[in-house]
Amino acid sequence: MTDRHWTLKILDAPEWGVSMAQELSSRLRLNPSLRISLPTGSTPRPFYRSLIGQVDLSQSQLFLLDEFGLPPGDPARCDSMIQRDLMSHLPSPPPAIEALNPDTRDHDAECQRYRRAVVDGGLDLAIVGIGSNGHVGLNEPGSGPDSITRKVSLNPSTQAVLHQYGATAGTTWGLTTGISELVAAREVWLLATGSHKQQILNQALYGPIGPDLPASFLRNCDRLVVWADRAAVGE
Ligand code: PGA
Repeated sequence: MTDRHWTLKILDAPEWGVSMAQELSSRLRLNPSLRISLPTGSTPRPFYRSLIGQVDLSQSQLFLLDEFGLPPGDPARCDSMIQRDLMSHLPSPPPAIEALNPDTRDHDAECQRYRRAVVDGGLDLAIVGIGSNGHVGLNEPGSGPDSITRKVSLNPSTQAVLHQYGATAGTTWGLTTGISELVAAREVWLLATGSHKQQILNQALYGPIGPDLPASFLRNCDRLVVWADRAAVGE
């Protein structure tokens, strides 16, 4: 197992989101058509608020990191969240965001289609959060470094947070970008805020790299930047 160079940036709100938005903005000035994978959930919201009105994503190629097996339009669906938290506020949104569609009958074919879109050109930047059980995307504990975009079963702890996102139903499954496609990204940003993420972030960064804690595999990326607040890092 390798453990390549990674950087830890510790910033409290509002600098946490503002600084990431400034960094992304300068990258987009150099390359407006960056290929970026975006997460949803609670963590990225302050970052997305900082992006609005500051960053031109109109020519970028956006990918939605994962999706829950929830009915169309459910507020906890990742496609609903990214619209609500980011896309609907952009003055010039990109024409489309490439997403995993859970409404199709053939989930394997859908995952293959999405994976081809990701792998053809790769990701310039994969932005991800960390689940309290160490998942990244919906790669739950047990996911290996070679895992690809696929349908997965959700751990009970992941199912339990759906109501925080406003879910009107429950689900036991989802579709996710795999660890292998995330680690292959030219750069990964791992976002973590709040004291409830402190223990798992610490283990992901300093513990053994392995499937028990899928976020630990991100240390194998060419370039990993961890954007954390003080509460997530602790003493
Ligand atoms: P959260 O979810 O940002 O809502 O804490 C992170 C994750 O589960 O990946």
